[in-house]
Amino acid sequence: MIRRTIRDLHDDEVRGKRALVRVDFNVPLDDDLEITDDTRIRAALPTIEYLLERGASVVLLSHLGRPKGKPELRYSLQPVSRRLAELLPSRSVQFVESTDSDEAVQATHRLKPGQLLVLENTRFLGGEETNDERLSRSLAELGDLFVNDAFGAAHRAHASTAGVAEYLHPAVAGLLMERELQYLAGALDAPTRPFIAVLGGSKISGKIDVMEALLPKVDQLLVGGAMACTFFRAMGLETGRSLVEEDRVKMAADLMEKAGGKIILPVDAMVAPSMDAAAVTQAHVVVREAIPADQAMLDIGPASMAQYAALLADARTVLWNGPMGVFEQPPYDAGTLGVARAMAEATRRGAVTIVGGGDSAAAITQAGLADRVSHVSTGGGASLEFLEGKPLPGVEALDMAEVG
Ligand code: 3PG
Repeated sequence: MIRRTIRDLHDDEVRGKRALVRVDFNVPLDDDLEITDDTRIRAALPTIEYLLERGASVVLLSHLGRPKGKPELRYSLQPVSRRLAELLPSRSVQFVESTDSDEAVQATHRLKPGQLLVLENTRFLGGEETNDERLSRSLAELGDLFVNDAFGAAHRAHASTAGVAEYLHPAVAGLLMERELQYLAGALDAPTRPFIAVLGGSKISGKIDVMEALLPKVDQLLVGGAMACTFFRAMGLETGRSLVEEDRVKMAADLMEKAGGKIILPVDAMVAPSMDAAAVTQAHVVVREAIPADQAMLDIGPASMAQYAALLADARTVLWNGPMGVFEQPPYDAGTLGVARAMAEATRRGAVTIVGGGDSAAAITQAGLADRVSHVSTGGGASLEFLEGKPLPGVEALDMAEVG
């Protein structure tokens, strides 16, 4: 890790200081504004505890949802602040309904070592997403040091993720950020082989850059999800009503040619006339050469699953991003749950296994296997951009670590 982290801070840089910590508390809420998955809040606790235990007070910044630069009640961080207080029962957690204000700055100065303050959603502020300089300077007033632990938002060049780090130093990575980067960079730069990537999802267009970036590094790339059908079409197969990106068929053909046999496609498919719940009774398995004209592929089939599980059993490094089918709706979850189980088994055999964020993280959690893989990323878009080899602005903005 070439960026400075909180573990590199000297005692006098932390004790008695206000640590301004950018976290990614962009958690799902239901209609009653109840948090339905607090994984991201829990993932930030080690950094928060680390700073509090060393005598800092902690001021938390986060976005939630995509409000367009003005307050919207349903995107308030108040429920998040309450959940944080439940998770840290021995700590004082305060909440202030503003972020860029004298009220917020004064509240940070009133904090005592060991206390926490949650400020309101950074995306309620007009200049956040434009990385406005005035706002960045103003956010820098909220702390004595800046810690970025928001890996999930590190691909955004926003005032609270990148801009503020220009005006507030030390600017260092938190423990979650460090862990995420270590796992992902470790897989890319020095994987133990065989190194297998499993990519799924509906669209090849969203995964093309990551495929291009991973192909030279991996030994095999297993494909699932509807995006497999764009490859099937490139092979001249009938794909029926499956989702195919016609404008990417040529790209899929080029990728297969370039991949020199590294791309492994499903050999069979679970098909049904549509995704409607009523069509579930008609779901059945066919070989990939026999997808009927009036059916759509909604999951990989059992023969593909067995083949993928056998390959993963011998892997030493595995990276998984994207579901194998419409996993929200059984029976089309079988392929995705099968990959989740194969990941857990590979981990048991000593492989380093990494699950990208977003849908695949949700799937491994749904399978109850999140704690049986090496690392589940908290970043969907961020992990994808990192794997594509793109610099992450929230990381680039941090202080460099001293070498040697
Ligand atoms: C995420 O959920 O992937 C991150 O919190 C980033 O959110 P965004 O896509 O709204 O920037």
